[in-house]
Amino acid sequence: MRQVFSIFLVVCATAVTSRKWNNTGRGLIAFEEAWTVPGLLIQVGNTPPAEDQTLAELEANLLDVHNQRLTQMDQNGIDFGFSDPATAEALATSVNDVLAATISNNTMRFGAFAALSMHNATQAAQELKRTVTELGFVGALLNDYQQSGQDNATLLYYDQPEYDVFWQMVVDLDVPVYMHPRVGIDLLTNLEYQQAVWLIGPGQEFAVTLSNHILGICTNGVFDRFPTLKLIVGHLGERITSDLFRIDEQKEIDPDFRTELQRQRPAGMPMKLNVSSYWQTNLFETTSGNFATPLLKFHIDTIGLDRIMFSIDYPYVSIPEGAQWIDETLPDVLSPTDLLKLKRETAIQVLGLDK
Ligand SMILES: *[C@@H]1O[C@H](CO)[C@@H](O)[C@H](O)[C@H]1NC(C)=O
Ligand SMILES: *[C@@H]1O[C@H](CO)[C@@H](O)[C@H](O)[C@H]1NC(C)=O
Ligand SMILES: *[C@@H]1O[C@H](CO)[C@@H](O)[C@H](O)[C@H]1NC(C)=O
Ligand SMILES: *[C@@H]1O[C@H](CO)[C@@H](O)[C@H](O)[C@H]1NC(C)=O
Ligand SMILES: *[C@@H]1O[C@H](CO)[C@@H](O)[C@H](O)[C@H]1NC(C)=O
Repeated sequence: MRQVFSIFLVVCATAVTSRKWNNTGRGLIAFEEAWTVPGLLIQVGNTPPAEDQTLAELEANLLDVHNQRLTQMDQNGIDFGFSDPATAEALATSVNDVLAATISNNTMRFGAFAALSMHNATQAAQELKRTVTELGFVGALLNDYQQSGQDNATLLYYDQPEYDVFWQMVVDLDVPVYMHPRVGIDLLTNLEYQQAVWLIGPGQEFAVTLSNHILGICTNGVFDRFPTLKLIVGHLGERITSDLFRIDEQKEIDPDFRTELQRQRPAGMPMKLNVSSYWQTNLFETTSGNFATPLLKFHIDTIGLDRIMFSIDYPYVSIPEGAQWIDETLPDVLSPTDLLKLKRETAIQVLGLDK
């Protein structure tokens, strides 16, 4: 999560809700709604809270499930709220247990994504299986790459073959994985953002870094190996779906323009199709923190409404702001049927809430 991370490990858990049995009311389902435990608040990093809260209020909101979060969900008709802490591999299991216990008395309104330490793909697969089969979790949320090594700067990307054992478990369980940004390691942010430190975080760094990872997953052929794999990307696609024309154009790199590094892979990208095509089969996006109506319209034209789901990004973005957008602006843009898809129907399918 943009503000929740740890030095060696990045994990994430999330509280959610459904009101799957009740199609009356506004029935919103929201993803990417963050939650953490007190011991991890120290990791609330460089993401500013929504304008109407202080840091103390942000922290209180991150810890809370049943009080102001649920009050705001009630006031704004949200059925599925989220939360994501980040911690070390050892903590992931206990965080998952705490989250399961915290929401256990209101599973009509909250569901959960697993926190996973991604250092060991086999261990991650086993913990995912435990959370889904024993705790009733609806999938996992991964905070971009994992860092490892003595220098904390060996980065692990899940587009490499050693993670196939993890992706195999994801498709066997038939759950989605939410790809979420993380706070960058100092080495990267110092190199890239020293001249404009304000671009660290949601304004630039998060989307750029996470889209790199997601494009790695596409181009390294993960979806060719796991055709039924479902990945969810927040913030209206971390800019990938705004730029598909240019990304697809690069599939065949002109030999004359190859860099030295690109020449090491003379066959070009190992993926079978192009990036656009995986948005028809494997990738979904949410509107979290990105309530840009013209962009939403463009994305509906580009990837189709069926690939897009509503989300907010609470408590970094306020629930009323998200609810106002969907209740007051979007009815002028979408038919009632399409609005219902965006608000809940696609989410119910993708998260398997109808099972
Ligand atoms: C369905 O939701 C509406 C609006 O939130 C509520 O008033 C109603 O009591 C709910 N019905 C059931 C059967 O839970
Ligand atoms: C669930 O438990 C929490 C904390 O004990 C409490 O605040 C909340 O009201 C409970 N919710 C329900 C639906 O019982
Ligand atoms: C990865 O996790 C599995 C399952 O817990 C374990 O058997 C294996 O030894 C671990 N691998 C490494 C390199 O730690
Ligand atoms: C790596 O992270 C650990 C744990 O936070 C820290 O103790 C150590 O000093 C870091 N090492 C480097 C080289 O930054
Ligand atoms: C991407 O692939 C699809 C079919 O897989 C094809 O229809 C489309 O033209 C391709 N787009 C580009 C820009 O190459």
